Amino acid sequence: MSPPAKPGVYLKEIIQHIYLITSSLPRLFMEGRMPKQPQVFIANRALTITINPAYSLLNNYLMQGVPVQTLCGGRAGCGRCRFRVLEGAAHLSPVRPAEIARLGEPLIAAGWRLSCQSHALRDVTIELPEMHEEFDARP
Ligand code: FES
Repeated sequence: MSPPAKPGVYLKEIIQHIYLITSSLPRLFMEGRMPKQPQVFIANRALTITINPAYSLLNNYLMQGVPVQTLCGGRAGCGRCRFRVLEGAAHLSPVRPAEIARLGEPLIAAGWRLSCQSHALRDVTIELPEMHEEFDARP
């Protein structure tokens, strides 16, 4: 049985990794090799927005003034923030159980997702329902 690891050993490794990553960022930036931020093209509105992947698509829309419906405030409760993926479904965060519960398997299989539960990790093309469209699907 090996002796328990000392917490200080892991901390030292973490600090070394942070140093390596942060020290290489200026070089990557100067070489033009910084990963670009994902973009979402909203096809039916002819609108492209740059996404911060740390925030849900709904929060990105709201921060950038993109009109989108929400009644539940992003809790997967209303289904109003739904969107349909046209291209790049694999570039989104995995489907969450809350999305399946709200939209149902048939809509998920047809490419529908919830903006409040999804994060774009790379470029995607979507369509958003118009602001006046209701959502009457029940789980
Ligand atoms: S904002 Fe209500 S389900 Fe996404």
